[in-house]
Amino acid sequence: MNILAFESSCDETAAAVVTDGRIIRSNVIASSVETHALYGGVVPELASRAHVEAIVPVATQALAQAGMTLNDIDAIAATYAPGLIGAVLVGVNFAKSAALASGGKPLVPVHHVRGHIAALYLTHPDLKPPFLCLCVSGGTTAIVHVQDYTRMVVLGATRDDAVGECFDKVARVLGLPYPGGKYMDDLARQGRDTAYPLPGTHVHGAPMDLSFSGLKTAVINLIHNAQQKGETLSLPDLAASFSKTVSDALIPRVLHAAAETGCRHLAVAGGVAANSRIRADLETACGAAGLRLFLPALELCGDNAAMIAAQGYYEYQAGHVASSSLNAYATRDLEAG
Ligand code: KG4
Repeated sequence: MNILAFESSCDETAAAVVTDGRIIRSNVIASSVETHALYGGVVPELASRAHVEAIVPVATQALAQAGMTLNDIDAIAATYAPGLIGAVLVGVNFAKSAALASGGKPLVPVHHVRGHIAALYLTHPDLKPPFLCLCVSGGTTAIVHVQDYTRMVVLGATRDDAVGECFDKVARVLGLPYPGGKYMDDLARQGRDTAYPLPGTHVHGAPMDLSFSGLKTAVINLIHNAQQKGETLSLPDLAASFSKTVSDALIPRVLHAAAETGCRHLAVAGGVAANSRIRADLETACGAAGLRLFLPALELCGDNAAMIAAQGYYEYQAGHVASSSLNAYATRDLEAG
């Protein structure tokens, strides 16, 4: 079954063709990140306009690279939530038009975070639910029990900032380009992770939840205090200390979730799944705990449409098909799909 999928929830306009939820035929991404970098963050209206401009060429390229036409496509999927509403609307409406124009092919709505989880199916042909997934991106931080392809339970989540957002905000104060997560990761590799002790992310009485706002504020205060005193902080040391604190916050919570659920398979998904410190620490922790770890391919960690097509396949199998009145949503419960 060939699925043509669209992703437009933030600043990437993407289209892809995937066969049977597992085999990538094409995966095309146009990013407007350079435009947003000028402003230090995504400007929603500019993102929507960039999607409108990019969606036709990206869709055309995805079909051409797959060596297919719309006639070869069995269903059309699109991210319908969560995301910047004007941005999500572009992908949803384009998918609706493509479904109508192709004689009423099935239209499959896909939750963006479920898509991130499905990126793992594209990397690991043998991965099947049940497993635990640490979902870490610019908009999400959650520990998800993937009980089946379309049945998921959120065991823990951030109470405030998402981890990627926290990386980006700290990076901005350090004067790094947007989005800063990758730059923080590169700097951290050259620094001492014990140089600056930072507060944890504990939420009282909720062992699988996290709070990143205090950590973010602590780093920002540290920088401002140093500036006021005319002191120079070591950016690599600060990036390394921050990355260690984040990793030390995430890993015990997923291990706790593994113990609670009895899951022996653990995965990580989303843009922050590219972080080298988190990947290395997870490898070590899973090795010690006897858990099997599934990491997504680096090129599938960030937003892309192949992951939407992969999840779209399983949503379609479960009968989750939308009518042409499908709407886009800025927020949507992952469990509800
Ligand atoms: O999954 P994604 O592309 O978009 C969302 O769905 O949110 O994630 C983007 C986030 C950004 O915050 C970016 O800074 C972060 O992922 N990110 C990283 C790394 N690469 C991307 N954070 C830490 N280390 C990285 N290597």
